[in-house]
Amino acid sequence: MEMEHVRSRFIKHFNGETGSVYASPGRINLIGEHTDYNGGFVFPGAVDKGMIAEIKLNGTDKVRAYSIDLKDYVEFGLNEEDAPHASWAKYIFGVCREIIKRGYKIGGFDTAFAGDVPLGAGMSSSAALESTFAFALNDMFNLGIDKFELARIGQSTEHNYCGVMCGIMDQFASVFGKEGSLMRLDCRSMEYEYFPFHPKGYRLVLIDSVVKHVLVDSPYNKRRQSCERAVAAIQKNHPHVEFLRDATMDMLNEVKAEISAEDYMRAEYVIGEVQRVLNVCDALEKDDYETVGKNMYETHAGMSKLYEVSCEELDFLNDIAKECGVTGSRIMGGGFGGCTINLVKDEIYDKFIETALAKYKEKYGKTAKVYAVKISDGSRRLA
Ligand code: GLA
Repeated sequence: MEMEHVRSRFIKHFNGETGSVYASPGRINLIGEHTDYNGGFVFPGAVDKGMIAEIKLNGTDKVRAYSIDLKDYVEFGLNEEDAPHASWAKYIFGVCREIIKRGYKIGGFDTAFAGDVPLGAGMSSSAALESTFAFALNDMFNLGIDKFELARIGQSTEHNYCGVMCGIMDQFASVFGKEGSLMRLDCRSMEYEYFPFHPKGYRLVLIDSVVKHVLVDSPYNKRRQSCERAVAAIQKNHPHVEFLRDATMDMLNEVKAEISAEDYMRAEYVIGEVQRVLNVCDALEKDDYETVGKNMYETHAGMSKLYEVSCEELDFLNDIAKECGVTGSRIMGGGFGGCTINLVKDEIYDKFIETALAKYKEKYGKTAKVYAVKISDGSRRLA
């Protein structure tokens, strides 16, 4: 993504003056899916694709925003009743509102922004947008907000302005990303650790099914509700269970008759997934990528059969990976479309990509996209 491109658009739309330029990335997640809002662990890393925004304070109480990719321009005020109609602008408005709600003072600004995180691919384009503006406004207005709170501002934007009851993983990864490192985050204590990730002899690659996922008003929120109902049932016997992260299969089985079969399956997946992240951490300490891969396949099976957030195309891509001898493969992100993440041995990499693309095209008549993963830095100022 070119900063110069954004800058030239900004100059064109806002009378020739430049401002400051900020960027925030999308993310991958090695393992730990739908565990964040269950108080569990996640294992994301920021990528080299993201959002770039040029921003200049305009001394008014209005935001004038131009989306370069959508060629759409919107103006809005900073009060609750000033919410814009364009869905892309709600992310920026939401970030402003969440900052104001926390007691900080900000003013109007002009901005033009663009991104190269594919939309709806499960790589968190929306978190990249939120983090860009949260980070930028904090910097430009000298607010002194810490990085965790910047991530929470993005998350609250999703909750209160975009209708997605997401966890903290995406915004955390976007703000805290570090080149060459994955991050293990405990989503309850918010303790995190950087894990340098340079698997010798393996590569990470995303294959985008180009089936767009939509999380807004989606089954995503329903999954979360299922988990909460399972926790409520378990809590009656085990008051210390605050999240599914604290539960065991034995505890879940005790309440099997009290909850729906669907809620049971959702909880079963989460309990397994919390454990898989820990398995993967252990395996990484020993450079045991076979075990990492095995857990990835198990995650895919769980997301497909128990959590039911996969789709035919993603299951197909997962099957091809297996047939090609790929070490690990699974659906990545919230689900309902988007990408698989694949851990592939160098020697079969080219053959796998070629086979996957050809078979996918043959079966669905569309061309999957391939993104080689480059783990990169989080939110930052570029100019
Ligand atoms: C989306 C949400 C995250 C997380 C993932 C699934 O990306 O924004 O908080 O729940 O789905 O792991």
